[in-house]
Amino acid sequence: MSFDLVLFGGTGDLAWRKLMPALFQAFRHGSLPEGGRIIGVARDDLSDDAYRQLIQSRFEAVEGSKRPNPEEFKAFASLLHFLRVDLSKPEDYKRLADMLAARNADTVVMYLATAPGLFTQAVEQFAVAGLNGPHVRLVLEKPLGHDLASNREINAAVRKVLTEQQVFRIDHYLGKPSVQNLFAMRFGNALFEPIWRREYIANIQITIAEDLGVEKRGAFYDQTGALRDMVQNHALQLLCAIGMEPPINAHADAIRDEKLKVLRALEPWTAETIGLHAIRGQYAAGTSYGKRVPGYRDEPGVDPESRTETFVALRTEIANWRWAGVPFYIRTGKRLASRDARIEVNFKPTPHAIYSTPTNAINKLVINLQPRDGLELHMLAQAQNGRQRNGNRRNGPQLAPVQLDLDFDKRFGAERVGAYERLLLDVIDGRLNLFVRSDEQEEAWRWVEPLIETWEADGEPRPYAAGTWGPSAASAMIARDGYAWGEEQ
Ligand code: BG6
Repeated sequence: MSFDLVLFGGTGDLAWRKLMPALFQAFRHGSLPEGGRIIGVARDDLSDDAYRQLIQSRFEAVEGSKRPNPEEFKAFASLLHFLRVDLSKPEDYKRLADMLAARNADTVVMYLATAPGLFTQAVEQFAVAGLNGPHVRLVLEKPLGHDLASNREINAAVRKVLTEQQVFRIDHYLGKPSVQNLFAMRFGNALFEPIWRREYIANIQITIAEDLGVEKRGAFYDQTGALRDMVQNHALQLLCAIGMEPPINAHADAIRDEKLKVLRALEPWTAETIGLHAIRGQYAAGTSYGKRVPGYRDEPGVDPESRTETFVALRTEIANWRWAGVPFYIRTGKRLASRDARIEVNFKPTPHAIYSTPTNAINKLVINLQPRDGLELHMLAQAQNGRQRNGNRRNGPQLAPVQLDLDFDKRFGAERVGAYERLLLDVIDGRLNLFVRSDEQEEAWRWVEPLIETWEADGEPRPYAAGTWGPSAASAMIARDGYAWGEEQ
C-alpha cells in the first residue's frame, strides 16, 4: 500500500519533538508500510536535501539506542520531501495537489500540526484543491479550538469536506501503551468487572503530574492553561477509560459510543460546585529536585500578571447506575513534585472488622501510566507467623500492608511502541479506535466551559511553590469527603 503523509508544520515544534522521531522508530521497526513518502510542508524555502539535513540535525541531539546510525538515517531520509506552502495562499494548495496527483498514492494523510487557528481555512482549501477524495485522511492535533464554539466551528468545517471516518483527532494519551493496558485490564479480564462499581469502590483519583514548567511554550501556554491543555482532553479520556461500560466490540465506534455516554453523565457544574470542587493554581518560584526554578509569571513569553492556571484539581461524579455517588478526582499540573501519571482506585473497607489493624481504605488498585507502566494492588497480609511482635493476644494479629506489583516495562521491555508511533501507524492503516470523535470532543468542551467562563471572569489562581503537589486547597477539597490524595495516604 503506498501512502503520502503530508506534515503541515513540517519544520515546527511537534514535528521536531515527536513526529519525526516516531516516524523514524516506525521505519526502524519495519512497521511503516513500504512505498511511503513523508512530505514536510511549511512556509520555509527548503529543498528536499535541506529538509533532510534539518531533520538529521534533530537526531544529533538524541542519545542512546534511539539515535539512528548514518545508514539508517540515509534510508529513512529517502522518504523525506519538502514543499513550501503558505496556508493562506490557494495557489499553494494547488501545487500540493499537483505533487500528490503525480504519484497518486493509495492513501494520503494530511496531518495538521499547525496552530489551530489555521485549521478551518486549511480544510476549506483542501476541498477547493480537490484534496478531499475518499483516499484522504485528516489528522488534527490538539488543541482543537479554544472553547465549545470554536471547536464546533472546526468540526463543522471539517464535516463539509470529509466524512467522520476520514478524520483522526489525536489525543496522544490514547496512544500510550499504558492507556491501552488500561483497556486491556478492564475488558480483557473478567476479574475486575464485578467490583468495578459503586458498591465496592470508594473513590477514584486521576493524577497527571508534570515536574517541568512551561519550558519554551510560555506564549502558547499562557493563552491555554491546564484546563484546556490537559483536562479537556487527556484527563477526561482517562476518566472515560476508567468509567465507561464494556463496549460491545473493539471497533472504534463501539468504544467511542461508551466514552461519550460517560462524558454526558458527568455532573454539570453549578456556581456552588465550582466554588467547592474546582481548584486552580499557578506555580511560584520554588525548588525542583534541589534546583531553584522561576515562577510561572517569570517564564519567557508569559504575561507578568498572568492569571492562567498551571494546576487544576476537580471533583466530579458520573451520574449513572454504576457510579452514582462515587467521587472522581482529577488533578494535573506543571512544576509539581515529580513526573507521575497514575489512576488510583480506592476500594471500600471491609464490612466488618475482625482484625485490630485498621482496614480502612487499604485496598487500592494503582494503574501507573508514567514514568512506569504497571499495576499495583495494595492489600493487607499477615506479616509473621506465630506470636505477634507488635500485637498482643487480646487485640488479635496485626496485619501489614503489602502489594502485588506488575511492571509492564519489565515484563514486555521498556522499548515498546511509543504513543505517536502507534497513532501514526493507525492513521496510515485507517484504524480509528484510538482517536476522538467530534461528539466526544464537543461534550468534553461543554463540560469544562462553565469553569473556563467562571475563571476568566473572576479571581486569581492560588499560588503554589514549584516542586510541591500544588495548592493546599486541593488537599482540603478531597479531605472534605474524608479521603486523601495517594501520596498523602
Ligand atoms: C501535551 C500538553 O498535550 O501533553 C503538554 O500540551 C504536556 O503541556 C504533554 O506537557 C504531556 O504529555 P506526556 O506524554 O509527556 O505526559
